[in-house]
Amino acid sequence: MDTRLDLLSREYLESPHAHLAELRRRGPVVQVDPGGMWLVTRYDEAQQVLKSASLFSSQGLRLTAQPPWLQRVNPFADSLLFLDPPQHGRLRALISRAFTPAALAQLEARLRGVVRRHVADMMDKKHVDFVDAFAMPIPATVMGWLLGLDASLQQHFMRWTHVLVTMNGVQPEGAVEMERQHRTLDEMERYFQGVLDERRSAPRDDMVSDLLRARMDGVALTHHELMSFLFLLLVAGLETTVNLLSQCARVFFQHPELLLRLRKDPTLIPRFVEETLRYEPSVMSTLRLCTQDVTLAGVELPQGALVLVSLASAARDEKYFPDGDRFILEREGPPRLSFGHGAHYCLGAMLSRMEARVALEELVSRVERLELRTEHIDWTTSLIVRGPVTLPVEVFAPATGQPLPARLA
Ligand code: HEM
Repeated sequence: MDTRLDLLSREYLESPHAHLAELRRRGPVVQVDPGGMWLVTRYDEAQQVLKSASLFSSQGLRLTAQPPWLQRVNPFADSLLFLDPPQHGRLRALISRAFTPAALAQLEARLRGVVRRHVADMMDKKHVDFVDAFAMPIPATVMGWLLGLDASLQQHFMRWTHVLVTMNGVQPEGAVEMERQHRTLDEMERYFQGVLDERRSAPRDDMVSDLLRARMDGVALTHHELMSFLFLLLVAGLETTVNLLSQCARVFFQHPELLLRLRKDPTLIPRFVEETLRYEPSVMSTLRLCTQDVTLAGVELPQGALVLVSLASAARDEKYFPDGDRFILEREGPPRLSFGHGAHYCLGAMLSRMEARVALEELVSRVERLELRTEHIDWTTSLIVRGPVTLPVEVFAPATGQPLPARLA
């Protein structure tokens, strides 16, 4: 493969793992498009980049959210996801509290009823878009509770986050896309402004009220900092978990026997979720910027070079994940990088694992089989996240009194 692979091409988006395997064979650091950025393909180097914030700055990722041509401030781009230490740590501490085990246990109890209703609804309808009927409403409900948002606006939340994760730092070709990005940012700002105003006059038990009360060195957060937090939490908490649930369904299409195995032994569900996150990570990669000239695995990278850390490729690195193209429930191996590594390790990791566990516990206990009802899947055009845009499925209920398959009994 002599020409540079374009990671936004249809060819790559439709089967990234075959291309990533080829790039891994070429080396741990290879140049790709768009923009001639450097892709880190192997586990050790991926970990090394993610833990060296002083050499590899999150300002790289920020360029996807605030590219020079945007001509408008994007509050998302000023959130802690894109900051380096020490500023990053001070802001991160403000929201860690919302993700404690006690807070999650409370959410779990509420969530189970919601999940049951969505499973029942899918079974009544039989033919549904799995993304719309199940994968999206579960995390949208949870993010709505955490932030105290209006549940009837879930479709808008999804549309908004989708626009933000597909910005990619690549200038849109026509005015239409640029206009869509501006309109989305306007809508989000207007909506969050209303939420902030409401909470100022009537605080509630939610993260927005907590953030309004928060003080850094005795000083309240600025309007822009508050806005950035709301953008970050909605984007980071929604699209990622939607994609995780959709990918769980795709594993069931490929391995229907696993659904029955999980029903028989639900304690395997957390393992199933971890292997899904390795096999098809919701966050494919993250971006960093070299703060100085640096040599990575023998490759000289100049100051200012963009380094795209492929979490998806690291998760199939032959050194640690033999037979990585196979979904193996019993798989061991080193800590996964699906939720990142180092200072920016995902704050919502426990939350999304809990959401996925509850969703799957309810799904496998009631559904016999899920079958994909399309030949072709459209994938989100993003350098960072990966997920199907829609997933038309047929949902099969168990025949009454049907015994478990002999191989599982
Ligand atoms: C399957 C679900 C999820 C995956 C795979 C995922 C993955 C990641 C990854 C890889 C990062 C690090 C990015 C980097 O180093 O540049 C990250 C950061 C983050 N995630 Fe998640 N995430 C998920 C769900 C969530 C949820 C539900 C929330 C809740 C709001 C959340 C909130 C955050 C936040 C706030 C950060 C920034 C942390 C920081 O910069 O210190 N994520 N996530």
